[in-house]
Amino acid sequence: MCDEVSVSEQTSSSVLTNETQVDRARATYSCCQVIENTSLGMGMGLVTLEAPIIASSIKPGQFVHLCVSDPESVMILRRPLSVCAYNAELGIISIFYQVKGKGTKALAQVEKGRKLDLIGPIGRPWIIPNQTSKALLVGGGVGCAPLTPLYHEMIRRGIDVKMIRGAQNANMMKTLSVLDNVECDREMILTTDDGSIGYHGFVTEPARECLKTEQYDYVATCGPEIMQKLIAGIAADAGVYCEVSLERRMACAVGACLSCVVDTVNGKKRACIDGPVFDASVVRW
Ligand SMILES: Cc1cc2nc3c(=O)[nH]c(=O)nc-3n(C[C@H](O)[C@H](O)[C@H](O)COP(=O)(O)OP(=O)(O)OC[C@H]3O[C@@H](n4cnc5c(N)ncnc54)[C@H](O)[C@@H]3O)c2cc1C
Ligand code: FES
Repeated sequence: MCDEVSVSEQTSSSVLTNETQVDRARATYSCCQVIENTSLGMGMGLVTLEAPIIASSIKPGQFVHLCVSDPESVMILRRPLSVCAYNAELGIISIFYQVKGKGTKALAQVEKGRKLDLIGPIGRPWIIPNQTSKALLVGGGVGCAPLTPLYHEMIRRGIDVKMIRGAQNANMMKTLSVLDNVECDREMILTTDDGSIGYHGFVTEPARECLKTEQYDYVATCGPEIMQKLIAGIAADAGVYCEVSLERRMACAVGACLSCVVDTVNGKKRACIDGPVFDASVVRW
């Protein structure tokens, strides 16, 4: 069983429905049962949770703020993690994670049946411009996770979408393939830093080539910040609107603590509720 309550019922704060949020559902406080938590190797994992309210209201690019404390190790701060897949009918969401430190290590050890406490969906999602007919999505490593539901949404809307996926090596790329959906995935351009599979090099070269040879209306990118900055520059040179998804350390994820500030041409913005997805042209890199 999963207990989900609107956060606005839990607190007197209205920050989660701040006017800076764009067309998004209200965040929900949830205590959700783990249906599956699979180690994928290479320090990666995929956890699937029963979270019907989040699954029915989340939009591609939004994230959840997950509490990974257990009785043996208390962690006050939640961890921000993107939702890489969701199914409203089944009431489930999945998170693709990379073990980095204490919190994600604890997440990797969570067993099926345990309940996890999370808040979501949070943040500004990807906003596909009206009349987009062809889009380029560029993901690096774990940054491919929030692009996955966007990719599927585009296919659902009949948008011609191409994905460029970058990883360090073939093993890492194989791990990322858990994000694929055989029913609707199309051809992707793969790149690896060591050339062990696909194009030898970074995602930037194929992205530049695609934008030079084909007509796109929209570029979306997520991955290491330097990669996003370069992709944003390549898209700007090609005159194509681009969105980026920026990672910041997030203490509250409700817009209150200012630990997640991003410099933009419109002043300082909070990655948790004004982002994580931003119009690339407003970001001061
Ligand atoms: C919007 C958003 C979406 C994300 N989506 C994913 C995802 O889908 N999969 C995934 O593997 N990772 C994702 N991350 C990164 C993930 O939040 C961090 O890797 C994780 O919080 C690290 O926690 P830790 O306890 O293992 O590491 P530690 O280094 O022990 O963490 C210490 C503290 O720093 C924070 N922190 C450390 N690194 C990061 C980071 N890179 N970003 C934000 N906070 C950090 C932690 O939350 C924690 O509060 C996302 C980050 C953001 C901001
Ligand atoms: S994490 Fe607190 S304001 Fe963004």
